[in-house]
Amino acid sequence: MSDTIGVAMLGHAFMGRAHSRGFREVGYLAQPTLRPELISVSGRNREALVAMQKRYGWAEAVTDWREQVADPRVGLFDNGGPNKIHAEPTIEAMRNGKHVLCEKPLGMDAAESHQMWAEAERAGVQHMCGFNYRFVPAVRRAREILESGGIGDVVHFRATYLQSWGWEADTSIWRFDKAQAGTGAIGDLGTHIIDLARYLVGDIASVSALVRTVVPGREIDDHFVATIEFENGAVGTLEASRLARGRINYNAFEVNGSKGSIAFDVERLNELQVADEKSFTRVLVTEPEHPFMQYWWPPGHIIGWGDTFTHEIAHLLAAIAGEGTVAPHGATFEDGYRCAEVTDAILRSAASRKTETITYRGSDA
Ligand SMILES: NC(=O)c1ccc[n+]([C@@H]2O[C@H](COP(=O)([O-])OP(=O)(O)OC[C@H]3O[C@@H](n4cnc5c(N)ncnc54)[C@H](O)[C@@H]3O)[C@@H](O)[C@H]2O)c1
Repeated sequence: MSDTIGVAMLGHAFMGRAHSRGFREVGYLAQPTLRPELISVSGRNREALVAMQKRYGWAEAVTDWREQVADPRVGLFDNGGPNKIHAEPTIEAMRNGKHVLCEKPLGMDAAESHQMWAEAERAGVQHMCGFNYRFVPAVRRAREILESGGIGDVVHFRATYLQSWGWEADTSIWRFDKAQAGTGAIGDLGTHIIDLARYLVGDIASVSALVRTVVPGREIDDHFVATIEFENGAVGTLEASRLARGRINYNAFEVNGSKGSIAFDVERLNELQVADEKSFTRVLVTEPEHPFMQYWWPPGHIIGWGDTFTHEIAHLLAAIAGEGTVAPHGATFEDGYRCAEVTDAILRSAASRKTETITYRGSDA
């Protein structure tokens, strides 16, 4: 088996940069068995694409993703494009036997996400959906504490993902175009906390939600609130907004159990708040025994948001090399699909003004 894997990536803007940095960094930090070789990056704006290609060290820049998914040098296709172009290129890549990493939300809705998962299973490739917050050391540590029963039986989960840029936003970007984004705050921010709810507590059985478009002239949602019931009986709330003045990237959750609680906020990424029966203690998640810290610095020398992509890519490369599996710590396309069932239920509930139960399908592969 070769010790390198050719990578092609779609998208050269925000996620394109975050993923490129991850692919470059993973080689010397995680030293994976399979080292990524940056074959090609694609996008529509030729000038910006070439500038990015040179800056991050991709060998080629192409303006048609079809060249990438047909390229025999490519073993891993990474889709960091707008939501609308997740399905077609990713499915084509899988049909050509490429392993895939696709940004969240997986598809435009549950039906499309399900199709992507089914194609992945049929192709027999490794598949991962880009829920990078699972790769924050403090979030992985939270999962370890929950799995070991450290806070007893989980009874309550609450999560908020709040940003404020939506008030004055340039609405010509794809994020405000329903045909390209599908939804607004729900798909952009809500999907991250739905995935964290599932990763930390379990699958969601029913949803009751309110969804609002506040700023006139928009066709997608600005914010939503939802109450949820988990299959294991725990209850929870989810909120996401692009209109929360003063909040920049406030992605926070709290889990309450019979013996304690756990709380986290991505703006304090290296910290986990852990409570016993009485009060919270701040734990700095930078000790050598903490998740992912084998790649980094002496204790207390903190890491950053961009580093989650390095962890995510290291995890996927290990799975491709046969040294582990994407699930349960990485989000597979099945996780992306199950998340989409929850987002669909949020929209259904907002329309019906009733509690909507969720039925999950098998892969049909
Ligand atoms: N995991 C995270 O934390 C996170 C954060 C932001 C965005 N995302 C997700 O990543 C994806 C991309 O978001 P972004 O913020 O990087 O967007 P962006 O607008 O910064 O970049 C989009 C890229 O896609 C390219 N593109 C647009 N339309 C295209 C088309 N029709 N064909 C080929 N290329 C096209 C553009 O040239 C650009 O390079 C979205 O699905 C988004 O939900 C995830």
